[in-house]
Amino acid sequence: MKVTVVGAGAVGASCAEYIAIKNFASEVVLVDIKEGFAEGKAMDLMQTAPLNGFDTRIVGVTNDYSKTAGSDVAVITSGIPRKPGMTREELIGTNANIVKSVVEQLVKYSPNVIVIVVSNPMDTMTYLVRKATNLPKNRIIGMGGALDSARFKYRLAEALECPLSDVDGMVIAAHSDTGMLPLTRLATRNGVPVSEFLCEDKLANVTQETKVGGATLTKLLGTSAWYAPGAAVSALVQAIACDQKKMFPCSVVLEGEYGQSDICLGVPVIVGRNGVEKIVEIKLNDAEKAKFQESAAAVREVNKDLNS
Ligand code: NAI
Repeated sequence: MKVTVVGAGAVGASCAEYIAIKNFASEVVLVDIKEGFAEGKAMDLMQTAPLNGFDTRIVGVTNDYSKTAGSDVAVITSGIPRKPGMTREELIGTNANIVKSVVEQLVKYSPNVIVIVVSNPMDTMTYLVRKATNLPKNRIIGMGGALDSARFKYRLAEALECPLSDVDGMVIAAHSDTGMLPLTRLATRNGVPVSEFLCEDKLANVTQETKVGGATLTKLLGTSAWYAPGAAVSALVQAIACDQKKMFPCSVVLEGEYGQSDICLGVPVIVGRNGVEKIVEIKLNDAEKAKFQESAAAVREVNKDLNS
């Protein structure tokens, strides 16, 4: 399994590190536009191999896409992250140009690649990848819901005062502060609905903390987070590499599912060797349906900026 990670910044390097440590890929190629940067990150990471005991070869290149040829999976993290007080949507102007030029190079050298989009605004960047490449929809995955769900579980465990491994829950819809939809109704603690333990106010608080999870970290760090984003991407890459058929909420091309078309939005999908192997349509209640539609409408508005 050959994996390319474009953008050797905070998220790209963290993602490469987790992939290497998990030892399922033969090679990771890190690409960056900054002269020597990816080479330096790759060398530093390779020098952890004798300490961490992995065999994955990590190579860094400055904008040389010929070295990415034959990649099975490519992760796009290139672009600018938000600063405190910014929304993800404000990044569109800069990141759309970067993502478009990057994905064209990737597909040129790896026509069979499965693309995982991380750059923000992620749902719109995923849609842009579909428009720019017309790759089959199973080979386009936007990473947001896997991270948001991890943040949701963190907040649930905190409210429940229980171990994180006892809770399960999922966040669907847009990867944005206002558009994401933590499904509290379906969240459980060891199979028991969390509403058995938490009152409405506490659940509303968990929902709100989850939605602003990225913004909270951006305020603390001065830039956006990288450990959990890197771990979430590596879990998706591993599901593909090891054909795990694991379910994650991912931003995918919708063609009628959840009543939406001509959009990429977060819904539960089965991820395996072929990328998105199945979109899982869960029954939403009326309130959830309304929120999902609202979220889709907001993403459509941002998508319009791609043409301006
Ligand atoms: P960063 O600034 O640390 O790294 C970005 C890297 O991209 C830099 O090293 C830069 O030189 C490189 N780059 C810029 N233009 C390039 C090009 N044309 N070709 C190759 N490399 C290029 O930023 P960070 O923190 O790693 O974030 C990256 C992106 O991921 C941001 O857009 C951020 O908002 C997004 N993000 C998305 C998450 C998600 O859940 N989808 C979570 C966290 C961040």
